[in-house]
Amino acid sequence: MRDAQPKAIQLADYQAPAYEVTDTHLKFELNDGYTQVHSVLTLKQVGDGNELVLNGQDLELLSIRLDGNELTTDDYVLGDETLTLSGLGASHTLEISTQIYPEKNTALEGLYRSGGMYCTQCEAEGFRRITYYPDRPDVMSVFTTEIIADAEQFPVLLSNGNPVSEKTEDGKKHVVWHDPHKKPAYLFALVAGDLQVRDDHFTTCSGREVLLRIFVEPQNVDKTEYALDALKRSMRWDEEVYGREYDLDIFMIVAVDDFNMGAMENKGLNIFNSSCVLANPATATDAAYQRIEAIVAHEYFHNWSGNRVTCRDWFQLSLKEGFTVFRDACFSADMNSSTVKRIEDASMLRTVQFAEDGGPMAHPVQPDSYIEISNFYTVTIYEKGAEIVRMLHKILGAEGFRKGSDLYFERHDGQAVTINDFVQAMEDANGVDLSQFRLWYKQSGTPVVEVLTQYDHAAERLTINLRQSTPDTPGQTNKKPLWIPVQLGFIAHSGEDIEVRPDQPDFWTEESQVLHFREAEQTFSFGGVIEEPVVSLFRDFSAPVRINYQHSQSALRFMLQHDSDGFNRWDAGQQLMLHWIELAEKGRFKLVKEDIAALHSVISDESLDPAMVAYLLALPSEAYIAETRKSYDPVAIHNGREQVLSEVAEALIEDFKACYERLNVPAEYQPAPADMARRSLKNLALSYWARASSDGIEAAKAQFKSADNMTDQMAALRVLVTCADQAEAQEALNAFYEQWKHDSLVVNQWLTVQCGSSRLGSPDHIEKMLEHEAFDWRNPNKVRSVIGAFANQALCHFHSENGRGYRLLADAVIRLNASNPQIASRLLTPLTRWKRLVPSQSHLMKAELQRIMDSGSLSKDVYEVVSKSLV
Ligand code: ARG
Ligand code: ZN
Repeated sequence: MRDAQPKAIQLADYQAPAYEVTDTHLKFELNDGYTQVHSVLTLKQVGDGNELVLNGQDLELLSIRLDGNELTTDDYVLGDETLTLSGLGASHTLEISTQIYPEKNTALEGLYRSGGMYCTQCEAEGFRRITYYPDRPDVMSVFTTEIIADAEQFPVLLSNGNPVSEKTEDGKKHVVWHDPHKKPAYLFALVAGDLQVRDDHFTTCSGREVLLRIFVEPQNVDKTEYALDALKRSMRWDEEVYGREYDLDIFMIVAVDDFNMGAMENKGLNIFNSSCVLANPATATDAAYQRIEAIVAHEYFHNWSGNRVTCRDWFQLSLKEGFTVFRDACFSADMNSSTVKRIEDASMLRTVQFAEDGGPMAHPVQPDSYIEISNFYTVTIYEKGAEIVRMLHKILGAEGFRKGSDLYFERHDGQAVTINDFVQAMEDANGVDLSQFRLWYKQSGTPVVEVLTQYDHAAERLTINLRQSTPDTPGQTNKKPLWIPVQLGFIAHSGEDIEVRPDQPDFWTEESQVLHFREAEQTFSFGGVIEEPVVSLFRDFSAPVRINYQHSQSALRFMLQHDSDGFNRWDAGQQLMLHWIELAEKGRFKLVKEDIAALHSVISDESLDPAMVAYLLALPSEAYIAETRKSYDPVAIHNGREQVLSEVAEALIEDFKACYERLNVPAEYQPAPADMARRSLKNLALSYWARASSDGIEAAKAQFKSADNMTDQMAALRVLVTCADQAEAQEALNAFYEQWKHDSLVVNQWLTVQCGSSRLGSPDHIEKMLEHEAFDWRNPNKVRSVIGAFANQALCHFHSENGRGYRLLADAVIRLNASNPQIASRLLTPLTRWKRLVPSQSHLMKAELQRIMDSGSLSKDVYEVVSKSLV
């Protein structure tokens, strides 16, 4: 909490540390109600100056000794969040004792209590809530950690690295862990609890045996198999695709119920939000299985892209996050359908990241200033960062990219480096000049590419004129042209691709069919094109840009049926449907027979991957529709989309019914790609069928009752919540709660399905759920399931005319600001979009932002987002 306005930290002010901590010895005494932390730091002067700045927050300082001598308050300066020693020499030993209160730590940063266990979250700046320390990623140290706790309550005591010793004395358990790899404090972790473990083994490519362990609360042991399996596949994949081997004898994962984010890559001891690691068929949906696979891989891959090579400062966050998201996306693509994975990722980017880019919090992938770093764990840093790495991959090719990553890991192993070092390694390994490409990291905002095509039949020539521009964003104007890879193809009337090659070979990468578009405006021409083709642009979503190109309705229908590029095939359908929804909003929509024929051909094509068919037939989300407009009316969007849904359902009712019946075969649940694909299409068909007929509703009821897995049960419940009459919907919800109230992760899904529903998720209903026995303000997953689902999914209720939805969200933000600032700040994102709404709504939203601003002492987290939004 603060009173004065917090100051922004600037990248330009970066200074290397004067002292290194070669060794860090920590001793934790965990007592009921308070914990003492004793540290012994070996200091070595490595830079200019003789001053050592230690960070500390909410700590009680018990004692401090330098080279054995107790210091008094005259010997150091204790600031608000720093402890500074000056006049130091070349090397010293510094011993510090602090007392902290994990039981009272509701921010869930540093050491805190979750249920019966203690755990930590130190990234980005949580370690300073444990003890005074140079809490910055460029200070890397070898950690030894001793933990002392009540032996009965806390039989499991974990930290990073390898176990060294263990004993029990006078009812206290003592353990010592040693991590031989030097690391910054943000990768430190400690866990204490009465946990059960499931073990497995992995033999690395060089033949080393690694013990794999997942620790969970006893009731969850039967939910650990899939994560272990995903871990082993990740370890193998990183060896095969990047040549990266694991480097300790043990790798541990711990599941924690109260966790601000998804998971954390602490060296050798990953800590996970339980929702991102625990699964069994009865309780977890296919989507949850896929999320677990991706996050387990993500955290594991950080061992190289993040831990062995880390960030110099937090402005470099995308160095590890963008690269690691790219790595986990390729892994998921290899494990499942790569096209479907690409559709999911691009669709998320276009919806959420484009919205961020268009709002007050827009920032470059390498920001140049921040007030609170926690606010910068964003879709821009993660997902746009991953898109930039993907473009590098596209430009350099798989082999060139691998040469670059090998050089990067070899050159920087054990170092804290910058995004520029990463690009430099790519350049050096490939002998290319990436100076212009670097702009992707520095310029914020979503580039817009205007495309004009012209076909000259007589000359058999097609020309493509491209113009790019990037809109102004907070603090940035007059942006320069970027290096944009444009992957493309020409489709003939037969539906086949035509072989093409532009007249300017310098701008063309043959195997991947990529045009290198690098100026504000460029025209490319292609000869030998004997018929007028349909031009398929930005295949595979080859660059994170908005495209302005008007395909005709018939060209879109044609691409939906024929484009050999799965991503563009899907996108053609999306563009077509966007148009339908726009017409519906104007009261002018009628599905024509060509539309019906196109959809029919998709649903009846049994040679297609069913998961792909499910995506091809799904309407764009309300959030994405909103994102395609300059200003929007959420209620109009909702109504237009509903009308299109109903017309599609009615026009193809026989197809959907047949599809459901064909795919609704009894089969033992498997979280395998083919089974997941079948279930996704089956459940999509059910959702349309139930919209158009009471037989469909009956089928949903039957599926709800008989399902032996959560994917099918939840899909049926969602259909009933959306389509059945209110009483039946409520009845199903009640039955579900009775069946699952003992399982907190399932209850979260139950909360989400109703609070995110455009049918049930009214402000009244949300208020009721906030009073429900299942709700808990201290648990971030519960807050996200109720308030997050409401504000991000139940858009027509959140944006209700009287502004009650906004008030409800602002009240939640004000309340959480005091207890958990990170969650408060994240939750308020929907309000930051106020400028995009129609004026009547927009002023109501702004008023709520102002009310938060005036509500008293704001955390840095909330202050930064609210103040930037009000500008
Ligand atoms: N590094 C973690 C990951 O794997 C996320 C940590 C986020 N921490 C935070 N304060 N937001 O992506
Ligand atoms: Zn990460």
